[in-house]
Amino acid sequence: MIEINGITKVYRTAEVETAALDGLDLSIGLGEFVSIMGPSGCGKSTLLSILGMIEGADGGRYCLEGQDVTRLSERRRAAVRRDRIGFVFQSYNLIDNLTVYENVELPLVYARDRSANERRLAVEEMLAKVHMGHRINHFPKQLSGGQQQRVAIARALVNDPALLLADEPTGNLDSENGRDVLQLLLDLKGSGATVVMVTHSQQLARQGDRVVQMLDGRNV
Ligand SMILES: Nc1ncnc2c1ncn2[C@@H]1O[C@H](COP(=O)(O)OP(=O)(O)O)[C@@H](O)[C@H]1O
Ligand SMILES: [Mg+2]
Repeated sequence: MIEINGITKVYRTAEVETAALDGLDLSIGLGEFVSIMGPSGCGKSTLLSILGMIEGADGGRYCLEGQDVTRLSERRRAAVRRDRIGFVFQSYNLIDNLTVYENVELPLVYARDRSANERRLAVEEMLAKVHMGHRINHFPKQLSGGQQQRVAIARALVNDPALLLADEPTGNLDSENGRDVLQLLLDLKGSGATVVMVTHSQQLARQGDRVVQMLDGRNV
């Protein structure tokens, strides 16, 4: 599913250069659930944003589903991102002036392959799964952190992504909400998707198939 070799990423500011990724190799099989762990600042979020094509790498190779994505045009990359990838951010990234319903519907609106009626059914089903069916007309600011994260997860899953990337998806949740979120990711894996989750929790990480330990921009 994912094959990356020698990925590097350097952030430059006026004063410093930070090698966020320093020659990372990673191979992830179709349908695998991989947990990424490592100390703060070791490059976990950078790795996810490269896997999700939110950012480009400076060097190395990234093949997704057999395609070298570094060679794709920006337009093709956007299409792959839209059609194949779901992303759950640590800080939810919901759109404040859209309702819960509208936030979750957004990926389906962009994909443009379903009628309004089909979208409604899909959104309602997904929100029921994350136990947020009773809050569809609320705005994000009117929800607790755990509820916002559940909505963000519904948004990431509504398109049936082949690859789900989750950056500390349970980081801001209590343990019960955290377990619910993990269960959703495990269900997604059960339906055939590949899941990559960054977490600080040993206990959650162990629920996946494999733990990848990172240190200073590399896997150890
Ligand atoms: N946009 C950015 N500009 C400059 N430095 C950055 C940026 N994003 C991340 N970094 C630096 O890159 C390193 C890796 O960051 P990150 O991938 O966020 O680590 P992690 O998610 O493991 O905590 C850190 O040293 C961080 O300060
Ligand atoms: Mg991070």
